[in-house]
Amino acid sequence: MDDLYRENILEHYKHPQNFGELPAATIVHEEHNPLCGDQITLYLLIEDEIIKDVRFRGKGCAISQAAASMLSEELVGRSVEDARTLDKQAVLDLLGIPIGPVRIKCALLVLKALKAGLYGLTDWEDDAW
Ligand code: FES
Repeated sequence: MDDLYRENILEHYKHPQNFGELPAATIVHEEHNPLCGDQITLYLLIEDEIIKDVRFRGKGCAISQAAASMLSEELVGRSVEDARTLDKQAVLDLLGIPIGPVRIKCALLVLKALKAGLYGLTDWEDDAW
């Protein structure tokens, strides 16, 4: 079963969904993992409190980039309020494989960008969720 999830992660890594920039974005937020240099910039187009469109740019490991691709697919059509409730477990469920303590920051880099972007924070604390 894990193999299917691993394949899915690799597929998202090689062919990321919603990859690119959104010139009309309402919110643009960049996060990076200082330990490895991985980086994700999330672009959100919000109208009437609904996320209408999403893009991301990034570089880094398969987990961080696949998580960004997967989460981006989940965001379109959600209300801002609903998107704010997405948590660590939601991202781990999307990835579907056990993520150890070393890779957890990889998995959550996109969530950090989302939360910090939606709350307008520049320095979202890792343990704030
Ligand atoms: Fe950098 Fe995964 S190794 S976020």
